[in-house]
Amino acid sequence: MISTRELTKDFVVSRTETVHAVRGISLDVAPGELVAVLGPNGAGKTTTLRMLTTLIAPTSGTATVAGYDVRSDPARVRRRIGYVGQGNGAGHSQRVGDELLGQGAIYGMDRRAAKRRTAELLENLELKELAQRKVSELSGGQRRRLDVAMGLVHAPGLLFLDEPSTGLDPQNRANLWQHILRMREQHAMTIVLTTHYLDEADSMAERVVVVDHGEVIADDTAEVLKTRLAGDRIVLTVAASNHSRIQELAERLPGAREFTSTGDQVSVRVTDGPGALPILLGAAQQDGVPVAAAQVHRPTLDDVFLNLTGRSLREADTDGKAAA
Ligand SMILES: Nc1ncnc2c1ncn2[C@@H]1O[C@H](COP(=O)(O)OP(=O)(O)OP(=O)(O)O)[C@@H](O)[C@H]1O
Ligand SMILES: [Mg+2]
Repeated sequence: MISTRELTKDFVVSRTETVHAVRGISLDVAPGELVAVLGPNGAGKTTTLRMLTTLIAPTSGTATVAGYDVRSDPARVRRRIGYVGQGNGAGHSQRVGDELLGQGAIYGMDRRAAKRRTAELLENLELKELAQRKVSELSGGQRRRLDVAMGLVHAPGLLFLDEPSTGLDPQNRANLWQHILRMREQHAMTIVLTTHYLDEADSMAERVVVVDHGEVIADDTAEVLKTRLAGDRIVLTVAASNHSRIQELAERLPGAREFTSTGDQVSVRVTDGPGALPILLGAAQQDGVPVAAAQVHRPTLDDVFLNLTGRSLREADTDGKAAA
């Protein structure tokens, strides 16, 4: 559905300044996949989506989207995709319902089909009561739901969503996801989205592409990324006088690293937490070291990013925002 090779984008800001926003992204997305693109502010996520949706031309490299080259066949690409940008797409003075019908018309839907889709989307995205309101009167979250509805009207085979859930409250985030997943099932959609909600990428996407400084630094299922690049963390509650003994025992576990000790707790990262915990507890018992409590923490995608880059995705985000 998507195939890019060494895609780059430079923005020439001034005679002396060029921003290398995307530095060579090669990506393949198969039909039906749901791919989440993660990365800190300024990583190049939006720029990549804008190239794939033909809104800006790549500086170098190639990209085929829905079977057509983004450079030589942009019109064909556009007809087959939906795009919900990071900013707001809808016009200000239009009414919500008309805006959706208009979007259907732009994509060549007949009026009856556009009406049916509009009614369905208004219902599913909790916009029904707002159908007669002007777009300019909507709240931020209502507006975001309308943006997403706009990208879904013509039920595209390939949908790009740039931070679809940013600014939504938890209830509306859940509704939005429910609708996206249902649409995907009904219309066999392929979806590529960006998000700053790591839990969302983790639970919804089958594949996570981590982007940093305009490059793909990891690309796999969340499960594999977490296991391979972060590992589980075992935390034991043990008297401080026994910490060094526990460390000696823990260091024998497969993949043991990052041993830390604070207060009455020791922590070690291992490849397989549930497998390693009984071994560690058994060894402690044999040595006569009392363990008051034991926990296994599964890693998060933030741990993955930390391992790949040495910085936390949350911190990287804050830095980006401060700089922006
Ligand atoms: N039109 C432009 N002109 C100059 N620089 C740009 C332009 N668009 C983006 N950039 C720069 O390119 C880099 C990548 O920006 P991009 O919007 O792709 O990041 P992002 O990963 O989407 O970030 P965010 O999470 O904040 O949305 C940034 O350094 C940004 O300042
Ligand atoms: Mg962006």
